[in-house]
Amino acid sequence: MDDHRRTELHKTVYLKDYQPPDWLVDTVDLRFDLDEKATTVRSILTVRSNHDTGRGMRPFVLNGRRLTLNVLKQDGRPLDKARYRVDDEALSFTPSSAKFVLEIETVIDPSANTELTGLYLSSGNFCTQCEAEGFRRITYYPDRPDVLARFTTTIAANKKYPVLLSNGNLTGSGDLVDGRHFATWHDPFPKPAYLFALIAGDLARVQDRFTTMSRRPIDLNIFVQHHNRDKCTHAMESLKQSMKWDEEAYGREYDLDTFMIVAVDDFNMGAMENKGLNVFNSKYVLARPETATDSDYQGIMGVVAHEYFHNWSGDRVTCRDWFQLSLKEGFTVFRDQQFMEDMTSPGVQRISDVAVLRNSQFREDAGPMAHPVRPDSYVEINNFYTLTVYNKGAEVIRMMRTLLGPAGFRKGTDLYFSRHDGQAVTTDDFVRAMEDANSVDLAQFKLWYSQAGTPELSVTRSYDANAGTYTLTVSQSCPPTPGQPDKKPMHIPLAIGLLGKNGGELDLKLDSGSKEGSKSLVLELRKPQESFTFVDIPAEPVPSLLRHFSAPVKVKLDLTDEERLLLMAHDPDEFNRWDAGQQYAAKLILELVQDVQDGKPLALDNRFIDAFRITLESGMKDKSFQAFALSMPAETYLADFMEIIDPSAIHEARRFVQETLAAVLKQPLLAVYSAHQDPGPYRIDQESIGRRSLKNMALAYLSLLEDGDVCDLCLRQFRGGGNMTDVLAALINLANNECHERDDALAMFYGTWKSDPLIMDKWFAIQAASRLSNTLGTVKKLLHHPAFNIKNPNRVRALIGSFASNAVRFHDPSGAGYAFIAEQVIAIDAMNPQIAARLVSAFTLWKRYDAKRQSLMRGQLERILSTPSLSKDVHEIVTKSLV
Ligand code: TRP
Ligand code: ZN
Repeated sequence: MDDHRRTELHKTVYLKDYQPPDWLVDTVDLRFDLDEKATTVRSILTVRSNHDTGRGMRPFVLNGRRLTLNVLKQDGRPLDKARYRVDDEALSFTPSSAKFVLEIETVIDPSANTELTGLYLSSGNFCTQCEAEGFRRITYYPDRPDVLARFTTTIAANKKYPVLLSNGNLTGSGDLVDGRHFATWHDPFPKPAYLFALIAGDLARVQDRFTTMSRRPIDLNIFVQHHNRDKCTHAMESLKQSMKWDEEAYGREYDLDTFMIVAVDDFNMGAMENKGLNVFNSKYVLARPETATDSDYQGIMGVVAHEYFHNWSGDRVTCRDWFQLSLKEGFTVFRDQQFMEDMTSPGVQRISDVAVLRNSQFREDAGPMAHPVRPDSYVEINNFYTLTVYNKGAEVIRMMRTLLGPAGFRKGTDLYFSRHDGQAVTTDDFVRAMEDANSVDLAQFKLWYSQAGTPELSVTRSYDANAGTYTLTVSQSCPPTPGQPDKKPMHIPLAIGLLGKNGGELDLKLDSGSKEGSKSLVLELRKPQESFTFVDIPAEPVPSLLRHFSAPVKVKLDLTDEERLLLMAHDPDEFNRWDAGQQYAAKLILELVQDVQDGKPLALDNRFIDAFRITLESGMKDKSFQAFALSMPAETYLADFMEIIDPSAIHEARRFVQETLAAVLKQPLLAVYSAHQDPGPYRIDQESIGRRSLKNMALAYLSLLEDGDVCDLCLRQFRGGGNMTDVLAALINLANNECHERDDALAMFYGTWKSDPLIMDKWFAIQAASRLSNTLGTVKKLLHHPAFNIKNPNRVRALIGSFASNAVRFHDPSGAGYAFIAEQVIAIDAMNPQIAARLVSAFTLWKRYDAKRQSLMRGQLERILSTPSLSKDVHEIVTKSLV
């Protein structure tokens, strides 16, 4: 493809160019005649102009890709060939009246669809994925979220597809000739095309019922392949809990007579919130104790909740354009995080949510793909379903709640939902609802939507013993990001407390008198530098800053080790109690990284070992928290602190710390391990989950010793475990060891579970994540394993994705890991660009590494770029990375 043609196809879309649609669609009548190779789609649209047509008609543009057009009629008459234009991307014509009926017939080939967007086949069943721009692969349509229409869908298919589903309520069904049948669905709520869904297949139905707060009965249905019908209990319970929670927390009631979830094995993302018919990656539906881990169970609960919550934050109120994606995603992630905080434990849930942000979103914000929560341009929208839009977007919503308080925030969401029901709106509209409901001005706060990069707070403190005053001085700055060299100061909520030397909390009174009397308060930063002075402070306190992680920022504050130990022991804020330990460990590991690089012998500070021992033996009530408190900061988080990232040294230093702890504390670790065995039958309540995670944390430390009796312990747990959490924890340890039990255990696991694809994913992932030196060889062999299938996204993520996140092996100084991932990106791009683009992101931070790795990574990026007919998805990421 020549460069000109490529720039045509790879055009940048800008937020500032947004124009309302020229034509609106009121109703859509769809009829599908399903066939694996040639499905006919007939569409009847009632269309009207969105303008006063006095100054003549504007063209009507209908997007469409890879469609065969059979029929095109305006008001019943075929449109003359000379009156319309069709190219690879769209059909357009200038209508002759301001209101008309358009009839379109297209033919598509679902069996050839490997991108998994539009209409495709998964395990022999028909399914759709239309977000963001997949509906244009089904029929010609104004495929943009600000065109909302009422859909009626008739599906005709062979009876070997007994289940026929679409959005809304079932209004008719019956037999047709030639062994075919049909079903008609009507969705009374106007929606954009990206929320359309169709399913046809041989599926089992698991049914339940929910009564809403206004006493309306709702039919709940989960559709899965027949052999999975015994794995839906947890998803169904999660759904009912979500429905109840949304009524209580946000006053949101469900609105159709039926709510359906369908699980499919081939899916690009986690799940999709199509109105009334959510389609899920089966990973986020199916679970039984023998097959799913505790974290799988929590993943299911979180994703079921997320998609259900979209019914209001996304479906009833949707996005005006794709730059507003965080309007629905940031808000809905926040809602699912809040739900999980209520269902599990607020501190522990917050710790794991922040870990995602710090270990992954901060990297995104520091790299060449960095973008604001509301991006101002994109080439391929699929590349902007990011941690920034989702997770940083959720933090932005959380900050508004922190600033306005729970009641003020609820007033704001009530106003937002009532004011914008049935509309396609913007993040500005969301903020305006918050402002209007609370009579506040959030103009400066809105910079969180438009400025990219992670702000940094530098904090200094001074205590005046004579005056009894304590002053915190906070400066904020934000590093430059692509296209944004200079940043304005942001409005940042900084939640704080002060601890006395005995660990007790002090009463907080600001000298300005503006806030007082409580032990924790929220300082509002607005300027590049600000000071806050507290009065009546009897002795120099220890500050506890950014409680509950009140803003997505980095904090620089030089606490002493003693101060960190005090916070670890006494801070009533659970998040900060955990974080004090993390900061202490991070500082220590980073010093050791320097020692590794200088070739110095490594030694671990005894005070750190003692602190770890105290946490280990403390017998905390919340065992999940205790397990988190014993964990070391992630390698990706540690990398963030290094000017030039040295993945081998980080790995070595971190492992040295863990091994030393295991060696010195072998007996207490063994004691914790045996004291936390399940006392009775397997259960998945919070207490049992906590017990298992603490026990398995202890076992993971012990397994680093690579001694025979610990291998036996792992093997015994592997063989005896009646639940997947324990079996998998043991197997991961074995897979990271050179011990002879390793291969037997992996073979045994394969033998037991080879017919369950979700468990095979775990088997692939464990081997690809192994730290052993021959991992790349193993991964290459596994590509040819009969259970591997490069067309299935879950399998690709398990084997290839896990290898790309295996820092030591991916960054092998030989460059072999880079070459391997580049080859896979190229191969996968020809089938599924979305998945290839996720994988190529492994290279985006190449400039942060040493010169040798830089040139190896750049070489692979250039090799990918020189591939003929590269997708827009991969092309965008590679070119932006190479700038
Ligand atoms: N809206 C989905 C969510 O709940 C995300 C999603 C599912 C998606 N499938 C997709 C986005 C395919 C882009 C392409 O978060
Ligand atoms: Zn979502």
